[in-house]
Amino acid sequence: MKLRRLTKRTLDAGLGMVGLQLVKPGLDFDCRPTGHALDRMLTALADTFDCWQAEASVWPLQSATDTVAQVRVFYDAYLASPFRDPSGGSRFNNLLWLYLLAQVTQPSLVIDSGTYRGASAWALSTALPRCPILSFDIDLAALAYRAPGVTFVQRDWADFDFTGHDLSRALAYFDDHVDQGRRLSEAASRGIPWMVFDDDFPVTSFALITHDGFALPKIEFVLDEKLSDASELSWVSRGHEIRWPIDQARLAHLRSLVAATDRLPNTSLITGIHQTPYRLVRARPRRAQLFDNTRVEECS
Ligand SMILES: C[S@@+](CC[C@H](N)C(=O)[O-])C[C@H]1O[C@@H](n2cnc3c(N)ncnc32)[C@H](O)[C@@H]1O
Repeated sequence: MKLRRLTKRTLDAGLGMVGLQLVKPGLDFDCRPTGHALDRMLTALADTFDCWQAEASVWPLQSATDTVAQVRVFYDAYLASPFRDPSGGSRFNNLLWLYLLAQVTQPSLVIDSGTYRGASAWALSTALPRCPILSFDIDLAALAYRAPGVTFVQRDWADFDFTGHDLSRALAYFDDHVDQGRRLSEAASRGIPWMVFDDDFPVTSFALITHDGFALPKIEFVLDEKLSDASELSWVSRGHEIRWPIDQARLAHLRSLVAATDRLPNTSLITGIHQTPYRLVRARPRRAQLFDNTRVEECS
């Protein structure tokens, strides 16, 4: 015990000299409510979903059946899952939304772009045990769990041959650190109607999650009318200034691909897990993309 404390103190001192610190990683819900407070948390999550769904018009949704029971089932499954590590992958709030959203969407096919440890693939396959799910990553080395019904593919989804797959009712989930404009365009040109984007940040808060500009533009930029007055965005990343020239024609084209969009409600205060809520997009059908490249309907 003494030796361990001494080793830790020595390590801490060494790491402290280079501005680092030794911290034992915890898991999400290591500290969690029980009894009355747990019931309240699960009910509040279900109410938030039901209220959102009652108003949602982004794409057709089937009615949810007993959302509180679904939330409880998913919460128990999550506690037993290997996805409680808060570093890098999706966390509880967003995985729950994926699970509930997939159930009320009932797509013909799911594309999960950005597998990492497999958390989103697991949530989607838990929601849709009979739906084909393709999960793509350029490097599947971190995969922690191969969820049943999921085909894991080590490549960019845009290089995949979808012959024989029904994309007209497909749901694409993008969480892959790639330019969201590119993903929107790739999915819309293949006739995929429904898309979910993680890490969609506005111009005021994108700087942490640009991957040096490779992840720009965000969908927020595509929808941001005030950007039409700007010629570039700049930010500082670890001491380096980065500039991203704004291609107005490209943003306008991307905007024309969006038929409807929505930002999901933030459930961070309900669970204490802080995450950016997903962006949903319904793509304009391919026929309409050919004839009209200026209008954006129903966008809020
Ligand atoms: C944030 S993680 C994905 C998290 C995962 N969806 C989850 O639920 O935990 C991003 C992943 O995108 C992958 N990635 C990077 N470029 C990619 C590409 N072009 N196509 C697919 N995946 C890519 C990275 O290798 C990384 O594993």
